[in-house]
Amino acid sequence: MPAVAEVAVIGGTGFYSFIEDPTEHVVDTPYGAPSAPIAVGTVAGRQVAFLPRHGQHHDFPPHLINYRANLWALSSLGVRQVLAPCAVGGLRDTVAPGDVVVPDQLVDRTLTRTGSFVESGAVHLPFADPYCPGVSTAIADADPSITRGGTMVVIEGPRFSTRAESQHYAAQGWDLINMTGAPEAALAREMRLCYAAIALVTDMDAGAESGAGVGQEEVFALFKANLERLTGLLTRAIDTLPDPTGCSCATWADGIDLTYDIPGPG
Ligand code: ADE
Repeated sequence: MPAVAEVAVIGGTGFYSFIEDPTEHVVDTPYGAPSAPIAVGTVAGRQVAFLPRHGQHHDFPPHLINYRANLWALSSLGVRQVLAPCAVGGLRDTVAPGDVVVPDQLVDRTLTRTGSFVESGAVHLPFADPYCPGVSTAIADADPSITRGGTMVVIEGPRFSTRAESQHYAAQGWDLINMTGAPEAALAREMRLCYAAIALVTDMDAGAESGAGVGQEEVFALFKANLERLTGLLTRAIDTLPDPTGCSCATWADGIDLTYDIPGPG
């Protein structure tokens, strides 16, 4: 069976559709249902799948998203490269609301999520560099205003951080804070997918400003105001994605006896 789509976009907060006149694929997975039917259509001449990670109506808060079902479902359609926009808070004055950052590091401070497809045996994912260099570069090259590199800490949520927590994260030298980047990036790598995040700074986190702290209205409003910019940037990035064949995101498991199934066209 040929791939239904080879590229995917996983939409974050405030980003619930991307493809015009899509074909919808309802996918069942061994891990349960993904967040929504997967919309497939043509973007920049490529067959692209779109999945809103919170569901079509923001049904799933960050800690209750079925990340395994989402990645498994995309892989089952033939996806090999994933672009993952997300809303983030800024931790330090090196970033400001409205900035778009392609992070190159992640710190996982989530607490309760199932973070792996591995349920038996010895499979230990190489994850020193959590994001695909090829996909990250295609995104960063899509717009000169994009900031290349930065460390994103992912918290459990759904609450925002206290001022002390936020100041602690900033003191570590971390730049961005978010609630969905983990375990999504690691699960993508376990599925042997090339995956990169696109972080839109929607607010300054509690420790980086003197006001009352972050509110969800500002996060949604800023994302909405930047949606067109983000979709343009994604389209340009998709147009210049490198061939994923031979990328270490896909080859890390060569010779390893994976104890879980990776679905997809033969
Ligand atoms: N997503 C957007 N802004 C955030 C913040 N300040 N903290 C955690 N996740 C976020």
